[in-house]
Amino acid sequence: MTPEHRITFVLPGGERVDCDGYPRLNLLAHAEMMELELPQKCGGQAECGTCRVRLLEGECTPARGDEVDLMTRHRSRFQRGERLACRARPRSDVVAEVLAMLPADLRDVPEDPPE
Ligand code: FES
Repeated sequence: MTPEHRITFVLPGGERVDCDGYPRLNLLAHAEMMELELPQKCGGQAECGTCRVRLLEGECTPARGDEVDLMTRHRSRFQRGERLACRARPRSDVVAEVLAMLPADLRDVPEDPPE
């Protein structure tokens, strides 16, 4: 698989992280490649909406099918530009704002030094 784009995620604290972008992968898969812990309660089934990101720049595949259905049923919860990361695939370089991150798994991060 050859990267064709650049994907940049803007994290809730404002930090930007980026990676190669692949048209066949959705934004959630790109986040996973970068070990970013986006919420995904339904495991990418377009049912929970917890993986929502806001597209700031660039173009993704249009929302269709189950994503449109979820957006329609919960239209008051979707702000302009928001997409399901588990459904949106990049068609260009993309900058996407991550709306929420899972708290760190404390088994995977260094402990604080003793006081
Ligand atoms: S992971 Fe549930 S809607 Fe994307």
